[in-house]
Amino acid sequence: MQTVPSLNGHSATIPRMLVVEDDPLVRMVCVRWLKMRQYHADQVENGIRALEQLNEAPYDIVLTDLSMPLLNGLGLLRQIKERYPETDAIMITAYGSIDTAKQALKLGAFDYLTKPLDLDDLERTVSTCLEMRELKRLRHERETLSEMVALMELSRTISSRLDVGTQVGEFINQLRNRFKPAGVALSLLDPNEHKLTLLEQKGLQALEVGRTVAVPKLGSEEQVLRAHAELVQHYATGNQRVHLLCVQERPVGVLQMTWNEADPPLSDKEAQLFEVFTSSMGVALENGRLYSKLKHQNLQTIAALARAIDARDAYTRGHSEQVTKYSVRMAQAMRQTELWVERLRYGALLHDVGKIGVPDAILLKPGQLTQDEFEKMKQHPVTGARIVEEVLEDVRDIIRHHHEWYNGTGYPDRLKGEEIPLESRVIAVADAFDAMTSDRAYRKGMTVDKAVKILQSGRNEQWQGDLVDVLVDLINVEGEVLLEGKDRPAQAIFCDGNVSKVL
Ligand SMILES: [Fe+2]
Ligand SMILES: [Fe+2]
Repeated sequence: MQTVPSLNGHSATIPRMLVVEDDPLVRMVCVRWLKMRQYHADQVENGIRALEQLNEAPYDIVLTDLSMPLLNGLGLLRQIKERYPETDAIMITAYGSIDTAKQALKLGAFDYLTKPLDLDDLERTVSTCLEMRELKRLRHERETLSEMVALMELSRTISSRLDVGTQVGEFINQLRNRFKPAGVALSLLDPNEHKLTLLEQKGLQALEVGRTVAVPKLGSEEQVLRAHAELVQHYATGNQRVHLLCVQERPVGVLQMTWNEADPPLSDKEAQLFEVFTSSMGVALENGRLYSKLKHQNLQTIAALARAIDARDAYTRGHSEQVTKYSVRMAQAMRQTELWVERLRYGALLHDVGKIGVPDAILLKPGQLTQDEFEKMKQHPVTGARIVEEVLEDVRDIIRHHHEWYNGTGYPDRLKGEEIPLESRVIAVADAFDAMTSDRAYRKGMTVDKAVKILQSGRNEQWQGDLVDVLVDLINVEGEVLLEGKDRPAQAIFCDGNVSKVL
């Protein structure tokens, strides 16, 4: 269809028709009628000329005579179906025999008209054909849209993974499933090092992942593409699509898909989907790269911080590691994803990092805390969350809520049940168990049996009941392997009486 500006400022589409008829009179009648109906109409006198015309411009409907010199209607129809599948054909036949009509329909004609032409018939057939085309277009648009939405959702899900390696693997799997390339290569720009690295390849055996090529001028698309071509060497030819991945028009990497010579090229719809998918890919990979860099730097800072806490309070050494071990085993038994377990691991390791803000006189006090001291001690989840929020945002809430109670009577926010992050609920069980079973400066740790009984008595009060079960099952199954490390040097007294208040 042809798009033209209309009076109301919106664009309207005019259907484009091609009349193929060797009888000048019939041709003229047809064209005149089509033009009266405000359609765009061109005319040619035989099949060969029709193909030339179709080659020049797209048409919505070809109205063609069956019996013509050079290339007849059926021959033309075959060519149209093969070369211009988006174009519909309506046959005009002087013979009107059922056999010829059936043959035309079998070859994919939309319908046929008989001579002498009945203008009402012509109108009905052309209108129906246009309506069907419109329905098909709408359905196609809807399908494309829903597929795009699905792809966007998918790329959003992938983008939420923080680890670049996982992201890349999943992006490439999706590309391979959706577009069936023989090979995929992905390179990522490192702006600090001024180099492009081949991050991943699939199906291009000779390529070495991790290879780098210098890119002196970072903003230069040409240099980035050239560096990529160098990375992929002889694969940078033939049936392929090379896509520069950009973030705010700044190149961040290159994605290349190659197909075998015999494979059909991407359709317009697939090319559109590919564009959508790769546009989010650039942003996701850049975020992932920045996150990894930041995480690496920040983890070094946090590790230093954790070491500082250890140095300050030798008695607590080992508690965070032990809590982490129990929590991670619980999460694995709960069949959580690796990413989830990783987040939990950081949360557990750092759950008491806020104790760095608790004065020595309270933290190291060898007796029962006063109410006032206890209140200060209760600040440690809030302080801890604040310490990590800039660097490990997704761990912040895990730390803040590790002392909430399942029944809503914990602190600092008195969250209840599933309002408490699941990671915090897991840590709460592991934290209590370790605090109860490890030795303290003034007394031996409880027996495992006693600690288990206390955990069970607090089911769905302090701790989520089925999470208590998870830990108890693990203790029963794994025994000493799980508990190894629990008997470490005695810890300082953080609280007395209700051991689980401040662990
Ligand atoms: Fe704590
Ligand atoms: Fe703790």
